[in-house]
Amino acid sequence: MHVPVLYTEVLEALQPKPGGAFIDATLGGAGHASAILQASGPDGRLLGTDADIAAVARCTERLREFGSRAIVRQSWLNETPTLATELGFTKVDGVLMDLGLSSFQLDEAERGFSFMREGPLDMRFDNTKGMSAADWVNAADMPSMAQALRDYGDVANPMRVAEAIYKARPLKTTHDLRQAVLSIARMGRGSRINPATLVFQALRIVVNDELRRLSEAVPKYIDLLKSGGRLAIISFHSLEDGIVKRSFRDAAESESAQFGFGDAQAVREAKVHILTKKPIQPTEAESRDNPRARSARLRVVQRI
Ligand SMILES: C[S@@+](CC[C@H](N)C(=O)[O-])C[C@H]1O[C@@H](n2cnc3c(N)ncnc32)[C@H](O)[C@@H]1O
Repeated sequence: MHVPVLYTEVLEALQPKPGGAFIDATLGGAGHASAILQASGPDGRLLGTDADIAAVARCTERLREFGSRAIVRQSWLNETPTLATELGFTKVDGVLMDLGLSSFQLDEAERGFSFMREGPLDMRFDNTKGMSAADWVNAADMPSMAQALRDYGDVANPMRVAEAIYKARPLKTTHDLRQAVLSIARMGRGSRINPATLVFQALRIVVNDELRRLSEAVPKYIDLLKSGGRLAIISFHSLEDGIVKRSFRDAAESESAQFGFGDAQAVREAKVHILTKKPIQPTEAESRDNPRARSARLRVVQRI
């Protein structure tokens, strides 16, 4: 079971109406997607995608009740805009990205996302192709590993942690990685974050190329919105939130240039209004009932 975070806030942000066209680029368990389809009935349409084929299978089943109003496909979120255009989802009313992991992925040891569960060190959203986390740590040189740990996990002493991982090679399981990290990085007194959490986060970002995909995706979705359409993004750590914030700011700014002695001319028009000056965060009650929601940040823009 995956409990959708900021459920009411997402619906308020997207305001799904009958006849609308929507994209959910991170279907997960289709909690948000079914709510959008319900609210946009009887004829609203939704294209739902996820890189994870298990999520695609699950959501195809869950959204079956909506018939041809729901189209479900496997796709990375930065590739979904091209697919959307091919399927006639241009000028859409709303797009949602609810980043990161679903509870299904975290809970399934075989996927290798959680250091709390022993399983193969995999961490691929799309586990049908590409390099697993084990392939990556067993091949990377120490400086690249240290850099990934610093840049994507803000790991303290990244060089020492990289060295410990390097010495423990070959790593096969989540347990192997956790042992290697905890052999040198103990939890500091008063620290709330287990060092293994940050190392796992860094590797997941690398393996799935998450930050590049997100930066590439945001402007593409903005271009797909019709006038008045909205893009809502929920992020779960500061690296994601920083990309969303900067991309929104860029799209909300117009730029003008001075040509010769003439007046300033707009060379780039602003495309969106930012609807969330500060990100929307879960209420205390939501964070208490669903600890996964604690770090969620929702930002929303509206196409001009
Ligand atoms: C937090 S869950 C979404 C939950 C969903 N909103 C719901 O209500 O059930 C995130 C999902 O996005 C997918 N995902 C994360 N990053 C992705 C990416 N870069 N491209 C495609 N799918 C991605 C994951 O596989 C996961 O299934």
